[in-house]
Amino acid sequence: MCVCGDLVVSWKCLVLLSLRLLFLVPAGLPVRSQGDPQSDSRVMDNITVRQGESVLLRCPQGNIVTHTAWLNRSSILYAGEDKWSVDPRVSLVTLNQEEFTIKIENVDIPDEGQYICAVQTRSRPRTASVHIIVQVPPKIMNLSKDIVVNEGSNVTLMCLASGKPEPSITWKLLSPGVNSFASEDDYLEIPSISRHKAGTYECTAVNEVSADVQTVEIVVNYPPSVSESRDVGASVGQQAVLHCEAEAEPPADFEWYKDDKRIFNSFDGIEIDNTGRLSMLTFFNVSEVDYGNYTCIATNKLGSANTSTVLYEVIEPTSSTLLQDKTSVLEKGTSSDYTIWEGPGAVQDGNCGNMGAHASLCLLVVIVVQLLLKF
Ligand SMILES: *[C@@H]1O[C@H](CO)[C@@H](O)[C@H](O)[C@H]1NC(C)=O
Ligand SMILES: *[C@@H]1O[C@H](CO)[C@@H](O)[C@H](O)[C@H]1NC(C)=O
Ligand SMILES: *[C@@H]1O[C@H](CO)[C@@H](O)[C@H](O)[C@H]1NC(C)=O
Ligand SMILES: *[C@@H]1O[C@H](CO)[C@@H](O)[C@H](O)[C@H]1NC(C)=O
Ligand SMILES: *[C@@H]1O[C@H](CO)[C@@H](O)[C@H](O)[C@H]1NC(C)=O
Ligand SMILES: *[C@@H]1O[C@H](CO)[C@@H](O)[C@H](O)[C@H]1NC(C)=O
Ligand SMILES: *[C@@H]1O[C@H](CO)[C@@H](O)[C@H](O)[C@H]1NC(C)=O
Repeated sequence: MCVCGDLVVSWKCLVLLSLRLLFLVPAGLPVRSQGDPQSDSRVMDNITVRQGESVLLRCPQGNIVTHTAWLNRSSILYAGEDKWSVDPRVSLVTLNQEEFTIKIENVDIPDEGQYICAVQTRSRPRTASVHIIVQVPPKIMNLSKDIVVNEGSNVTLMCLASGKPEPSITWKLLSPGVNSFASEDDYLEIPSISRHKAGTYECTAVNEVSADVQTVEIVVNYPPSVSESRDVGASVGQQAVLHCEAEAEPPADFEWYKDDKRIFNSFDGIEIDNTGRLSMLTFFNVSEVDYGNYTCIATNKLGSANTSTVLYEVIEPTSSTLLQDKTSVLEKGTSSDYTIWEGPGAVQDGNCGNMGAHASLCLLVVIVVQLLLKF
């Protein structure tokens, strides 16, 4: 009878067996296997459906159909208008001369597979098969928690997603001003992490259906580093501000010292103002005793750094002291706060750029030339 040696045709054998069991095929009518010119099996286009949606299975009937059935693999869902499936999601939509359509609601992954429409006409059996493919939107199931690490640690972020087809994963660093980089793996390896790689990492899982996006925060701790601060010049009675800037994570605590003596906020006429990475030491009314060497120490739990700034005296310029003061300021060499001297404009024009040994001489020449030009 039905010899089902060939795996390829086994589903067809099952169908024919089922039909026979149903007495759909009249006894005595020979059941033919594949290749028989009188039997006809057709493969319909695959149907792609998203999880949770409904799908219609439509089977063309043609003339003089005696029996017809829809099967899920080898089990009968509908035989004619008789429902065999106990699944409430399965229902009959249309059964007439033209078509035999059933509906499956709320489709889920186990519903994926081959569905067969078996039709018996007066003369011969006919089958049509259709493959239902179920798609599932991506969902990130297992994501690394936000972490705080020390600079130099090896960090691995994980982003595992489910979905059908299998979602692809991309990683991106979102922090502004940093070159964001992408990686395509469930695991993002960051060997020996630097402070520049701290920030918000975005994992995107995407497939044909949609995308899921989640973020992980990495905080990278590192010890303070202070930037070189400029010496500050001020006259008695003026206001002066010393700056100390420290890069650190967590943010640094600041301490100010004059020589070995700690300065506190309560000191008369002095205020320490810490805002994030910047500390400012303000003298509201500079007096002689304030001049000197100030040290700022920035500390966090990973270490400390310091820088020193000199508050030096500037004599208010008067016409009689002009030339003398200019020379004395130039002798200070590297000090950079000469704002007081930016009045005449002649200095810049004279091209005395380098404050070398001949600078004073050069300045004198320039001033003399300027004086001569005035006549
Ligand atoms: C239908 O889907 C199956 C399984 O994914 C695949 O092997 C087959 O090539 C597809 N057929 C068509 C006609 O797209
Ligand atoms: C189809 O058969 C599979 C396997 O037996 C089952 O898990 C699934 O629920 C069935 N689907 C329908 C719509 O009958
Ligand atoms: C996430 O992945 C880790 C490591 O693979 C595993 O130990 C953990 O059980 C997973 N958690 C969940 C909720 O799947
Ligand atoms: C980081 O990984 C490298 C190479 O795998 C290893 O040599 C190093 O010891 C690791 N560093 C830490 C802090 O674990
Ligand atoms: C600054 O201090 C001097 C001397 O201590 C005082 O005479 C002067 O009035 C003060 N100036 C201001 C603006 O407070
Ligand atoms: C200021 O003090 C610091 C620390 O005591 C010292 O290293 C530095 O040389 C001093 N700077 C000047 C200009 O004296
Ligand atoms: C300041 O930093 C130097 C190294 O840069 C260190 O040798 C010195 O001890 C520090 N001074 C203080 C007061 O912390």
